[in-house]
Amino acid sequence: MIQLPAHPITFADFMERCLYDPHGGYYTSGRPVFGPPGDFYTSSHTHPLFAEILADAIAALQGLLESAPPLDLVELGPGDGVLGRNILAHLSHAHPKLAGNVRYSPVELNTPLPKRICGIVFSNEFFDALPVHRVRVKGGELRELYVEADPSTGEIRETEGPISDDRIRDYMRNGFERRREGWDYEVNLRMLDWLGDLNRRIDKGYVITIDYGFLKEEYEQVDRAAGTVLSYSRHRVVTDPYLNPGRQDITAHVNFSVLIKTAREMGWTERPLKNQREFMMEWGLAERLIRAEQSFRKPSAQKIDELLHLKRLLLPGGISDVMKVLLQGIRVK
Ligand SMILES: C[S@@+](CC[C@H](N)C(=O)[O-])C[C@H]1O[C@@H](n2cnc3c(N)ncnc32)[C@H](O)[C@@H]1O
Repeated sequence: MIQLPAHPITFADFMERCLYDPHGGYYTSGRPVFGPPGDFYTSSHTHPLFAEILADAIAALQGLLESAPPLDLVELGPGDGVLGRNILAHLSHAHPKLAGNVRYSPVELNTPLPKRICGIVFSNEFFDALPVHRVRVKGGELRELYVEADPSTGEIRETEGPISDDRIRDYMRNGFERRREGWDYEVNLRMLDWLGDLNRRIDKGYVITIDYGFLKEEYEQVDRAAGTVLSYSRHRVVTDPYLNPGRQDITAHVNFSVLIKTAREMGWTERPLKNQREFMMEWGLAERLIRAEQSFRKPSAQKIDELLHLKRLLLPGGISDVMKVLLQGIRVK
């Protein structure tokens, strides 16, 4: 169980404790998190086709880099590592020469980023798992949400207080077109820290970010007065992040407008933001489905199971329509 201090803490501090407390945080407790025994599926756990297409994209980008081997392949927040393993397996099978020259670095909690990187950094559902501050618009002013436990009952309650970090005001200006009275917004300062860190370490390369998220104009189209903080438990969405601290996942959508603007200010370039389906189409989804269809002509129990997983990945309105993919270049032509 997560222990909260007797004084108010920022929501970012609360989320950090719930997810990453060394004694009982959601991701650190060793309980199953992903797939059937856990609380949610990511694309990594849905079907290896996702990893295979990503591996083909990585191989093509490596060609554009025009740099001498080895190629760094850095994965942020790999979790149980299934995506990285499937990417490496597909590289060995379809791009063996490149596979022999890849230096793969999974960066999990407490693993540092490599000091120098020449190659490709990728992540799936990493930035949405970083602790966020929450801000409420009150009487036209910004107030921050804090969390505290009632000393006698232990009940968790939300309080409002002053903004805890000056960078929050800039983030709000860059990330949201309109700040609506009474609405809550998330501010992911950790994401800014990661971008700065990557910028210092990448000599030349690409960053592929796959995540839930919105551009600032999209926040206008969603009716979410409480913002995008969501929890997941036993494959169900839970809207109350204060339930069962340390026992349920907590996420917040990635603000891609802030991500792109911050990176541009450091000189990065980017391709237009796509959803995962469009990204997979660009990198060969149609051809792969035609090939897969031929193999499904001789059905077996295993093939049918595989087909169901493929459907889960590609169903209209499902994960591939909701997830976004951002491809950015650093010091590349
Ligand atoms: C939602 S999971 C995604 C796992 C995996 N990428 C996938 O697609 O299944 C988020 C992962 O990010 C990791 N993470 C969070 N903060 C991190 C940090 N500061 N450094 C490295 N990994 C971190 C978590 O431990 C967790 O494994």
